[in-house]
Amino acid sequence: MTEEKYSKEKVLWSKKYTDKLMAFAITRPENYQFKPGQFSRIGLPEDSGFIWRAYSIASSQNEDFLEYYVVLIEEGAMSQRLSQIKEGDEVLLDKTAFGFLLPERFESGKNLVMLATGSGIAPFLSQLKLAALWEQFDKIVLVHSVSYQDELISSELVNKLHDYPELASVLTRLQFVPVVTRNEVEGAFKERVPALITSGQLEQKIGFEFTSEDTRFLICGNPKMVQDTFKSLLDRGFAMHRNRLPGQIIMENGF
Ligand SMILES: Cc1cc2nc3c(=O)[nH]c(=O)nc-3n(C[C@H](O)[C@H](O)[C@H](O)COP(=O)(O)OP(=O)(O)OC[C@H]3O[C@@H](n4cnc5c(N)ncnc54)[C@H](O)[C@@H]3O)c2cc1C
Ligand SMILES: NC(=O)c1ccc[n+]([C@@H]2O[C@H](COP(=O)([O-])OP(=O)(O)OC[C@H]3O[C@@H](n4cnc5c(N)ncnc54)[C@H](OP(=O)(O)O)[C@@H]3O)[C@@H](O)[C@H]2O)c1
Repeated sequence: MTEEKYSKEKVLWSKKYTDKLMAFAITRPENYQFKPGQFSRIGLPEDSGFIWRAYSIASSQNEDFLEYYVVLIEEGAMSQRLSQIKEGDEVLLDKTAFGFLLPERFESGKNLVMLATGSGIAPFLSQLKLAALWEQFDKIVLVHSVSYQDELISSELVNKLHDYPELASVLTRLQFVPVVTRNEVEGAFKERVPALITSGQLEQKIGFEFTSEDTRFLICGNPKMVQDTFKSLLDRGFAMHRNRLPGQIIMENGF
């Protein structure tokens, strides 16, 4: 990538939740524009060049930093480098933000269901901080599936939404549904997301039925989960949303 396409930013902090999960924040250039749901391209030095990877922005549009959540991959080239970053380190940031996982693309619908696995929760955390989203939808459901209990940092992240005073009056309309597929956890489902949709357990839990008129879905995470969840929704009569052919589902592979 040529130098005029990226800026050099500083790491503000980094935090390890587990051996596999971390978060970090970097300085945000004044002219860096993004829509909640989009991802950045981040670069770190590798041999004589740089290695670039996509990371969804978890912070809000109003904040002067950019925050990311990372699932560290054993022996992954970028993961090995990211696991060692610390305050003051330099990272490269592609000046453009990318992606179409944008709820504003839906022109109708009352209830929004966000379906995430692993780091796929990041774009939804950014969106939940957006006042316009709460004007667009009456009820919002955030479903987050992880394999093991210690990966369920989303409970902590959802609680942190309460630190935003402007969200105080709207968060009563958010339902958080944790899914932990390989441990028994009280209050969490153990079945995978597509099974929860097909069996009707998810609707039962949240207390309303999915309908074409009222319900809109955003899916992000493991590509196989995205495909399987999409199929389970197709079987229920929902369709992919396209700008010229409105439907109920927008999805993005989280890696
Ligand atoms: C649109 C988009 C947004 C992304 N946003 C994020 C994000 O917010 N947080 C994040 O951690 N990663 C995200 N990724 C993945 C990220 O770009 C890197 O691929 C990841 O950090 C691993 O890089 P690596 O070089 O260590 O390993 P790689 O060699 O790139 O990956 C090795 C393998 O690890 C698996 N893998 C990669 N990423 C993940 C993941 N996040 N969770 C589980 N398995 C994975 C895949 O099977 C992949 O083939 C995103 C990817 C895309 C395309
Ligand atoms: N596990 C470790 O100890 C460890 C340590 C370091 C690094 N890693 C790396 O981390 C990566 C995995 O990260 P991750 O656990 O965040 O992501 P993941 O494998 O995508 O799992 C996240 C969630 O998605 C679910 N899921 C997977 N496929 C699905 C499908 N087709 N339909 C519905 N749900 C599905 C999983 O359920 P299931 O649990 O049922 O699969 C789990 O609940 C691996 O690539 C590995 O290299 C793992």
